[in-house]
Amino acid sequence: MTRIGVLTSGGDAPGMNAALRAVVRFGIDKDMEVWGVSRGYEGLLDGELEKMDRRSVGDILQRGGTILKTARSKRFMTDEGLERAARNLDTFRIDALVVIGGNGSYQGALELSRKGVNVICIPGTIDNDLGYTDYTIGFDTAVNTVLDAITRIRDTSSAHERTSVIEVMGRHCGDIAIYSGLAGGAEAVLIPEVEPDMNDLCLKVIEGINRGRKHSIIINAEGSEYSSSEVVDILSQRTGREVKMVVLSYLQRGGSPTLQDRLLATRCGEKAIDLISSGMYNKAVGTVGGEVLGFDLEEALAQENIFNRELYDAIDVLSR
Ligand code: F6P
Repeated sequence: MTRIGVLTSGGDAPGMNAALRAVVRFGIDKDMEVWGVSRGYEGLLDGELEKMDRRSVGDILQRGGTILKTARSKRFMTDEGLERAARNLDTFRIDALVVIGGNGSYQGALELSRKGVNVICIPGTIDNDLGYTDYTIGFDTAVNTVLDAITRIRDTSSAHERTSVIEVMGRHCGDIAIYSGLAGGAEAVLIPEVEPDMNDLCLKVIEGINRGRKHSIIINAEGSEYSSSEVVDILSQRTGREVKMVVLSYLQRGGSPTLQDRLLATRCGEKAIDLISSGMYNKAVGTVGGEVLGFDLEEALAQENIFNRELYDAIDVLSR
């Protein structure tokens, strides 16, 4: 009988539980034994593995966070840590490890594969920063949370005739900013991928005020060149309008996963099990044009993440 391990690692993302549920239940359906590893690679180092059954993943499909818990492990990313993790997997007689996480977790899985461990990765991160897949699990929910916040902030900004700078997450990737900015009707988005022109931004806000616009919404991705407080200072000094800052932070990471994230998580979990049952390892599961596929892990990780320039440009056209 094939025995597999599964862990969640890095920043939690809505839909991680749905992916875990799919791995456990599709795995058991294929006569596999599934062991859950607590606290990501940290738990792997400490031998925190427990056998799971169909009921262990009951009532979690709709829950954010991760019932396995997660961590960012510095200990693991050393040669000693990797050796120890591989040894522990051997002790528990795990044939393959499923890692649900973002690019740091993928890098860890790749290193483990170099120690002879069979790994399969599932993209679980709100950042949408893995270039090989259309979307990552958690991104859709995070963007919907940001959209809800924009709608609320717009009401009060409009009532007070203010400009609001809303900071969103995404690390070095501007996707949360672009998608929420476009769908939320923002005046501008500032993203790490594009050098900002602050003169142009201020001019745009001033033109909007002159045209009678009651509020301005500016989305600043956390990895952008200017911090949100710098953006606030520049805008308030040059536009003469009151500017407020809202940092959405961890609000974006929690909450019940959307339909899109539940579907993506479930399909990726099923694909991970298919790959293992066909003896195909060291793969990253993802979608291209909506089709769920398994990619070579090293190549998937090396693939550049290119932001959607058309969506970015559309925000500017729509808000002028
Ligand atoms: O990768 C997900 C993410 O939420 C990023 O958007 C953010 O930069 C980071 O994690 C925050 O990490 P932590 O939970 O360690 O503060």
